[in-house]
Amino acid sequence: MFEKFRFLTSGESHGKCLTAIIEGLPAGLSIDTDFINSELKRRQQGYGRGDRMNIETDTAEIVSGVRFGKTIGSPVTLVIYNKDYENWQKVMSTKAEDQTDEKAFYTYRPGHADYAGSVKYNRHDLRDILERSSARKTAIEVAVGAVAKLLLKHYGVSCKSTFLQIGQGKNEEEFRAEIDRAKETGDTLGGKFEVIYGRLPVGLGSHVHWDRAIDGRIAQAVMSIPAVKAVSFGNGENAYEITGSNFHDEMFLSDGKITRKTNNAGGVEGGMTNGEDLVVKVVMKPIPTLRTPLKTVDSSDMTETEAHFERSDTCAVEACSVVAEARIACVLANELMLKFPSDSI
Ligand SMILES: Cc1cc2nc3c(=O)[nH]c(=O)nc-3n(C[C@H](O)[C@H](O)[C@H](O)COP(=O)(O)O)c2cc1C
Repeated sequence: MFEKFRFLTSGESHGKCLTAIIEGLPAGLSIDTDFINSELKRRQQGYGRGDRMNIETDTAEIVSGVRFGKTIGSPVTLVIYNKDYENWQKVMSTKAEDQTDEKAFYTYRPGHADYAGSVKYNRHDLRDILERSSARKTAIEVAVGAVAKLLLKHYGVSCKSTFLQIGQGKNEEEFRAEIDRAKETGDTLGGKFEVIYGRLPVGLGSHVHWDRAIDGRIAQAVMSIPAVKAVSFGNGENAYEITGSNFHDEMFLSDGKITRKTNNAGGVEGGMTNGEDLVVKVVMKPIPTLRTPLKTVDSSDMTETEAHFERSDTCAVEACSVVAEARIACVLANELMLKFPSDSI
């Protein structure tokens, strides 16, 4: 599949740093580091986050691809240092001679990658799986997404997120009450939110092949965020109960331009943006690490026990929405660059 905007990330949750290399950005794009860091801050905030957010204030360092504030066409490398690393240097050492059992754990955490990951990669100490499956890696993805957003902003594209439901709560006050209640009982919560990108050109994506449909690409990008369990477009999640005459967005003319009175399609028809707002709805499952532990199995002696607990969030829906914005920004930036000349701005 031909891609213009590509990136790879590396880094463990308690390792030295997280890194990303972005390839394909046009030369001449202004890189506002304050904006990148403000996005990182947004990811760390939100009611219900755990203690780690007090330890770390993430900032990204740009180490290649940018000169005097602008991209120069070469790969852009971003680094976020883990502030907590000094306490983990021994446990996360890359050297064979430093081998230790400190912080090793063997009880699978239900809802996490521990079991499948340890079978797949043949690892005994489940920390080998936790360290990369942790949502910590989404910090560097948000930094990459912020760069993609700078490109989108250059072309006038807008972005916002709205929280729709957390537990039974449907407004800010109720969200907080739900989260407080869950925290008191050692439980956790997920939630539902929507991300809206506006002022997109018509025709990003394509109807000609399944792997070029923009809704498919966005669904993959968002569904693979840790803890995301459902993704839909516009009113898609209710489409099964609505008749065609009520679901499809009729077209009208206003000053010679096509307008719509509804947006049940969420801005996508035939795998392409149609000029309406792109509306992506996302459901995050409850955080799987519970202070009141879940029943599980100890892999070291194959007995039933309780799950390992490690510092954790009660609810991370706000952070998840920032990650979803970032992932969608990357898909849209790629599509924009495929559609328009993109060697330079
Ligand atoms: C921003 C964000 C923060 C998260 N924080 C935690 C956390 O503190 N504790 C936890 O157990 N899971 C947390 N998760 C969810 C897990 O990483 C995720 O459920 C797990 O890796 C298994 O992946 P899956 O749910 O996609 O199957 C978080 C997810 C996101 C997106």
